[in-house]
Amino acid sequence: MPRIAIIPGDGIGVDVTAEAVRVLNCITDLTGLALDLDRWDLSAQRYLDTGVTITPDEMSKLAGYDAIFLGAMGDSRVPNNVHARDILLGMRFQLDLYINLRPVQLFESRLSPLRDVKPEDVDMVVFRENTEGVYVGMGGNFKKDTPDEIAIEEDVNTRKGVERIIRAAFEYARTNKRRRVTLSDKANAMTFGGGLYRRVFALVGKEYPDVPQNAVYADALALDLVLHPSKYDVIVAPNLFGDILSDLAAALVGGLGLAPSASLHPGRVGLFEPVHGSAPDLVGTGRANPLAAILTAALMLRHLGEEKSAVVIEQSVRRAVAGGHTTPDLGGTLGTTEVGEWVCHDLRDILVDVAGVTPAGT
Ligand code: NAD
Ligand code: IPM
Ligand code: MN
Repeated sequence: MPRIAIIPGDGIGVDVTAEAVRVLNCITDLTGLALDLDRWDLSAQRYLDTGVTITPDEMSKLAGYDAIFLGAMGDSRVPNNVHARDILLGMRFQLDLYINLRPVQLFESRLSPLRDVKPEDVDMVVFRENTEGVYVGMGGNFKKDTPDEIAIEEDVNTRKGVERIIRAAFEYARTNKRRRVTLSDKANAMTFGGGLYRRVFALVGKEYPDVPQNAVYADALALDLVLHPSKYDVIVAPNLFGDILSDLAAALVGGLGLAPSASLHPGRVGLFEPVHGSAPDLVGTGRANPLAAILTAALMLRHLGEEKSAVVIEQSVRRAVAGGHTTPDLGGTLGTTEVGEWVCHDLRDILVDVAGVTPAGT
């Protein structure tokens, strides 16, 4: 039975995780699929109460799970978000989860802020490098809090790290018959790291002559994603540009309330987290959209080999959106919990009424 660590985290992470777990429980009740869900309290509150972010022992225990589900990390009471660095970036780095996979798909034209855009125009996957770049935390402040202060943030790119994320993007494109792989960097301004990305992209790209490929500077891509999203399919980018471009891409399809993500290293535990953060502006309102977390749960089931359950959850999310059973960010009037409950009822309708499945335990 797959063992899954559930880390609700902070802010709306707690609310949306509750709904993702509700949906996972519904799926297990309906299909008989067995999942062992283990709740973990790694959060700002725990850090504020105990001074502990995450211990080395906890990190190695997490490495032993089949999957980790995380809601969100971020709390303004924690200086420098140190707990998020230790826990979230800690898992990505220490578990060496080098692929941050962020699918972006337009379900319905009306969800996009773009004019005259059709669902087939926006269907892409961002492959964000997840273990290096400017995120490594190498650097420091000199003469801090003086007028002469210097801040250094190193951009670390290894040939191995660059090659493996580019290769992952090409492999994904070939396996899933995607139309193109686009590298996005700033090789015109950041010539050392960007140059490495360009050279490795050209070399690895030669092994995939069947996959159309091009490179677009990150600033130009930000522009073109808005103007001509249909030109893009698989996008591979260094850590920081992948972070920014994946939020931008999510905006094209209705916002962060519909954006799932997975941090992966084939053969190892995967970390599944919605793209959004703890959304302080929504805390306590009951209006956080849980669909990104629910789509993330589907992505997790797919990676655990449960394709059918993943598909049925995705179907149900589309039906929620189509029927307007959503939170206000997508134009609906439901609250977080009601959306989760709606999805659960709908899963039952799909599985029992349409597919004729007899619910487990009956
Ligand atoms: P955010 O993603 O929390 O919010 C950005 C905007 O999107 C806000 O307007 C918010 O209301 C909206 N939004 C986000 N999730 C939503 C949802 N589920 N439904 C409806 N609207 C949603 O980004 P931020 O405000 O820059 O960051 C807040 C905190 O979260 C910070 O501490 C940040 O570091 C952290 N963060 C954590 C993660 C993560 O844990 N993976 C990701 C991003 C940001
Ligand atoms: C994300 C977030 C994180 C990141 C933050 C919270 C460090 O924005 O998962 O996209 O930048 O990777
Ligand atoms: Mn981000």
